[in-house]
Amino acid sequence: MSHPELDGLPLERKAALLSGRSYTHTKAVDEAGVPGITLFDGPNGVRRPGDSTVHIDPLHTLPATCFPPAVAVGSSWNPDVAACVGAAMGREARAFGVTVSLGPGVNIKRSPLCGRNFEYYSEDPLLTGVLAAAHVRALQEQGPGASVKHFAANNQETDRKRISADVDERTLREIYLAAFERVVREARPATVMSSYNRVNGVHACENHWLLTEVLRDDWGFTGAVISDWGSVGDRAASLAAGLDLSMPGPDDAGDAEIVAAVRAGDLEPEAVDRAAARVAALVRRAAPATGDVDLDAHHELAVELAAESAVLLRNERDVLPLAAVSSIAVIGEFAARARFQGGGSGNVKATRVDEALDAMAARAAERDATVRYSPGFSPDGDGDPVALREDAVRAARAAEVAVVFAGLPEKEEWEGTDRTSLDLPAEQVDLIRAVAAAARRTVVVLSNGAVVSLEGWHDEVDAIVEGWLLGQGGGRAIADILFGVVSPSGHLAESIPLRLQDHPSFMNFPGEQGHVRYGEGVLVGYRYFETAEVPVRYPFGHGLSYTSFETRDLRVSATGTDTADASVTVTNTGARAGRHVVQLYVATGAGPVRRPARELRAFSKVALQPGESTTVEFSLDRRAFAYYDVVLGGWAVAPGDHTVQIGENASTVVAEATVTLTGDQVVLPLTLDSSLDAWLTHPGVGPDMIRELAAGRGEEAVRQGMRSPEFRVMSSMPIRQFVKYHARDLTTEVLERLLERHGLLGSDHGPKA
Ligand code: BGC
Repeated sequence: MSHPELDGLPLERKAALLSGRSYTHTKAVDEAGVPGITLFDGPNGVRRPGDSTVHIDPLHTLPATCFPPAVAVGSSWNPDVAACVGAAMGREARAFGVTVSLGPGVNIKRSPLCGRNFEYYSEDPLLTGVLAAAHVRALQEQGPGASVKHFAANNQETDRKRISADVDERTLREIYLAAFERVVREARPATVMSSYNRVNGVHACENHWLLTEVLRDDWGFTGAVISDWGSVGDRAASLAAGLDLSMPGPDDAGDAEIVAAVRAGDLEPEAVDRAAARVAALVRRAAPATGDVDLDAHHELAVELAAESAVLLRNERDVLPLAAVSSIAVIGEFAARARFQGGGSGNVKATRVDEALDAMAARAAERDATVRYSPGFSPDGDGDPVALREDAVRAARAAEVAVVFAGLPEKEEWEGTDRTSLDLPAEQVDLIRAVAAAARRTVVVLSNGAVVSLEGWHDEVDAIVEGWLLGQGGGRAIADILFGVVSPSGHLAESIPLRLQDHPSFMNFPGEQGHVRYGEGVLVGYRYFETAEVPVRYPFGHGLSYTSFETRDLRVSATGTDTADASVTVTNTGARAGRHVVQLYVATGAGPVRRPARELRAFSKVALQPGESTTVEFSLDRRAFAYYDVVLGGWAVAPGDHTVQIGENASTVVAEATVTLTGDQVVLPLTLDSSLDAWLTHPGVGPDMIRELAAGRGEEAVRQGMRSPEFRVMSSMPIRQFVKYHARDLTTEVLERLLERHGLLGSDHGPKA
């Protein structure tokens, strides 16, 4: 990167480039022709502050479209939905003069209690990565840059600025870094935002391994790394680690620390030059506010995208869609005052909000049906819960169907705090049960940014629509789903457990004494439930439709040593148009590490008319079969059988076919600390070893011995100890001679990329 404008710029002025001017702006360095830029949140709409020099006051932000938050986009399982959000946000950001849009968040939903789950897509890294890459690509095509956040392992809010996420490397690479990696490689985001927390003891913004070795050296990231707001403690250390821009500002003292560190010889001047050059490259994106935004069109888009994101969880006796009903009781305050986004930095001042009650009344009127509304409960705890409930029960009894809008109060889902329970507020559970007992048919529509428990009332109601938080158009989208204007096509991007105690994160969330141990390793979410055969209420990938689909003719063939093609035919066998998600999982027991029962490796959403069929083709690359091998320090494909499974969801497989892959012929380095077994089974050295051990007894005797229980006990012993205590005729000199003969002395058999 050449930046002649920075040549000759004094150190102090370069350092000044590396921190903000305000909460949302960077400084201009006029003598270098570097303008200041604007950085606004966020994840699901442009958060336009009214006064940008101080902390953002939510009461004085300016309107922008509030699109469905990531929790909803995740459930759409449709990269086109993510791309529509990205493009529309890009248009608004450009029109509002934003250079960097702070989002999307691609952290994995490790626990259903994480207070920011509404800002994240899924418990699965592939689903997260594909959706986020689509968002970033589409957003950046409009001009502004994206800031993919929060890098990395920021999976809880408790103690978020200090907690150390203690995660083994395989788990990091396979689960927590994988979505960032995909977005960086495929969508080339302008910036990455480092997280508040520590990763294995080192603050993310000072973590050289994370910000330089992984992000830049391994993945080839060339953009700027921005700190999360107020996370940098030591400016010089963060710069040395690979952080470029510290936000917010001003931070004159921090800029002076950088200058002092260089002068004292504690920080290389090149580190300052590098970071200044990256910030200068970023600000080239700065552009005056341009383009008109059609806010009406964006609102319509917000409705359409929301309708693709809600998940129909249960639909007994086909109670939905509400086709021929003449009277409906609409119960629950969320019908009249939608909960459509989470709290904190992602909070957008919506341009308008469609309420489900109004939209339902309009749809009902088209069908000559009546709607009676009863608030049922108060999310803020106002009013008498018994009186509210009794009124709702009366309304339910008088109607043909009762639709209860329940969910989490806004204060329970707020950046900076985690929840402590999966339960809905008790008065809402009481309400649902009372209504279900009185009504002929009961439908529950949920509004929540993270999983809530369905236990204690699930079996008493006929239908459940998981509406998550759907953005400003959610109310109309829900009405369209309830009345069958749209057939639901959302699928769960996270498992709904029966009990919090069943969840893999339960024993290690949110940590203690400054550390949270990711003890479940790669067995996150459905990877654990399926492997340990722990029943859930609804599995990852679950979602019903008003039509039905059939899957047939799965064909899988290897296309190389570690790749394969798969194709499968899907037919809409029902009477309505609908969208179906083909979910492709891979299951294998091959290789030296424990693999989850199955892992999502590809997916595709298809729209089909009644009776229509389509053949969906997948090209499965090496990573679809790989695991991260910590011994090799790289990705490896284990030789052996890999079963491609088409799942209706993560726990119901509807078709499968196995391919045998040659995989990687991994030969691990052999040393005197390697096990007896490793020596005997080594392709080169093994046969020679057996000959040495056989001296006088014949090789067959040795081979027979290798099958004995005694051998099994000894097989993991370091060869050094084995020769010392158990093999009088074998010496370390002999072993070294063998290594030499096979060219293995001091050699490095390093990882295959
Ligand atoms: C959040 C970020 C956000 C930033 C700026 C922080 O508190 O963690 O996600 O982008 O504030 O508002």
